[in-house]
Amino acid sequence: MAITTSAEDRVPRGDVVAPLNFYAPPSDGSTPLQNIDPPPGVPERNFSYETLPITIHDIRTSSDRDPSSFTLDNDAFQILQGLPPSAEEDPAKNGGSNFTSDASISQLYYPEVTSLLLQNIPGSNKVIIFDHTIRRTTPSAPRGPVQRVHIDQTAFSAAQRVRRHASSPEEAERLLQGRYRIVNVWRPLNKGPVESFPLAFASSQTVNDKDIVPVEHRYNNGYTGQTAGVKHDEGQKWYFLSGMTGDERILLECFDSWAGKEEEGKKVKGGRVPHTAFEDPRQRADAEGRESIEVRALVFGP
Ligand code: OGA
Ligand code: FE
Repeated sequence: MAITTSAEDRVPRGDVVAPLNFYAPPSDGSTPLQNIDPPPGVPERNFSYETLPITIHDIRTSSDRDPSSFTLDNDAFQILQGLPPSAEEDPAKNGGSNFTSDASISQLYYPEVTSLLLQNIPGSNKVIIFDHTIRRTTPSAPRGPVQRVHIDQTAFSAAQRVRRHASSPEEAERLLQGRYRIVNVWRPLNKGPVESFPLAFASSQTVNDKDIVPVEHRYNNGYTGQTAGVKHDEGQKWYFLSGMTGDERILLECFDSWAGKEEEGKKVKGGRVPHTAFEDPRQRADAEGRESIEVRALVFGP
């Protein structure tokens, strides 16, 4: 007799304790740095990671918090649900690509992301999408889930992004005077709910500045960027959304130039969200590999 498993049985749900990898500094006290595609003999990084068991709260099953109660200003993440399918999923429009062609993604999905951000981020009036990453869990995929706690940008690299993507140096300087943020729009691409390697994120207001460590990213072409590693602290509160589906999005805010400003109306509790993929100890050995796309955007205003 054939044994079938429903999608529901296949999805690990509820709060869980899982190992997360946190930043651990170089033992000799030197500046942390990461070399991207280093030549032979050059190490990839001079720092390491420390693996700790962390309680991760499932927003889907939690009775005390509604998914819509998390906001960019309070938590630096936001959950959107019940969205219509993308044109990029529509065979009549995508020419058969369905999130496999970068050109088609830029043409069909980027404009939808721009509208989504403008509609859901109060005060926003301009969006520049600068990048996207597709992740698949198969060994041949160029990128898989990232199982290291990090934040994609720092204040330094966020300003560098504005200068790089604004239409002119004058526009960059004008935009840098106002509020600017970097927001990733993350969604799964699996047909059904995500069964493995979900994304975990910590509410920004539970993360202290002292635990966020800038890491230099050196590219072979001489370009230097900066991301952040994150140390663990008992006060951090970690979340995930079990069994995410294609009609849901997580907005991950990596930087907000208003963070730390105390003037009236500018209360931003951190504005940067530590995040990481994790292996749920309950996930099945034959679980479907997680597939996802994150689109990175500069968001301006008010
Ligand atoms: C991101 C990110 C990791 C993952 O969206 O910025 O780090 O595993 N994603 O999806
Ligand atoms: Fe990231």
